[in-house]
Amino acid sequence: MSKKTTTINDLSDLKAKKKESWIVFDQIAPTYDLLNRILSFGIDKRWRKNFKRFLPKQKHLKCLDLATGTGDVAIELARDDRVDFVEGTDLSIKMIEFGREKLQNKKFADKITLKLGDGVNIPNPSSSIDIITVAFGVRNFSDHRRSLKNMVRVLKPKGQAMILEFSLPKNYFIRTVYLFYFRTILPKIGNLLSKHGDAYTYLNKTVEDFPYGEAFISDMKNAGFKKVKTKSLSFGIATLYIGHK
Ligand SMILES: C[S@@+](CC[C@H](N)C(=O)[O-])C[C@H]1O[C@@H](n2cnc3c(N)ncnc32)[C@H](O)[C@@H]1O
Repeated sequence: MSKKTTTINDLSDLKAKKKESWIVFDQIAPTYDLLNRILSFGIDKRWRKNFKRFLPKQKHLKCLDLATGTGDVAIELARDDRVDFVEGTDLSIKMIEFGREKLQNKKFADKITLKLGDGVNIPNPSSSIDIITVAFGVRNFSDHRRSLKNMVRVLKPKGQAMILEFSLPKNYFIRTVYLFYFRTILPKIGNLLSKHGDAYTYLNKTVEDFPYGEAFISDMKNAGFKKVKTKSLSFGIATLYIGHK
């Protein structure tokens, strides 16, 4: 895959930008983890812990973490005794390289493989995975509905997908305060500290543009997921969607 630099001047064509969103992540990879902690006041770590909470009781789980980035979800899953193996895939080699560094000297690192891979046209064989996870990835995919269909294909019968994504709080007061922070303060700090002119402006745009709640549940059901349920996190700032094949 050729490496090129990009800036995001025209935010109107998000669909086109999403086709190469991994390039933006290549550019912000060095500060990605730090900015996650700062901009979410550390709450993002707590959100990712929910993946373990909703793992099924069975053992020997084979997991696939799509858009794994620097591997935070893969690491969280690998800590669990029920998990035998986690494959984390992403289109940004820089994010993966930072993830691989984090694995060094971790005792469960042998359970994790981080590698390049597309979360839309998932290359894994059909009916081969017990658990698919995606944290803050699907909204960056060029075609999230196609990705959902491929997740169903790749899951074993009764396999489970867990998708964590931003959403908007229902409460008017909380939503107003949150949106003020989200639209005005967060992009400024993000763009400044990542030294990328507009990466965090783009990332915000993708959140408000993306279906959440009932709309995303409907996308999951249309893709073939059954028994879809949700867990609202931090007043609805994020939502965990869980569906079964
Ligand atoms: C906001 S980051 C989330 C990373 C990680 N899951 C986390 O929780 O921190 C989104 C990731 O999606 C990746 N990405 C974007 N499009 C992708 C695609 N089609 N396939 C795989 N990864 C993709 C980006 O490279 C980036 O690492």
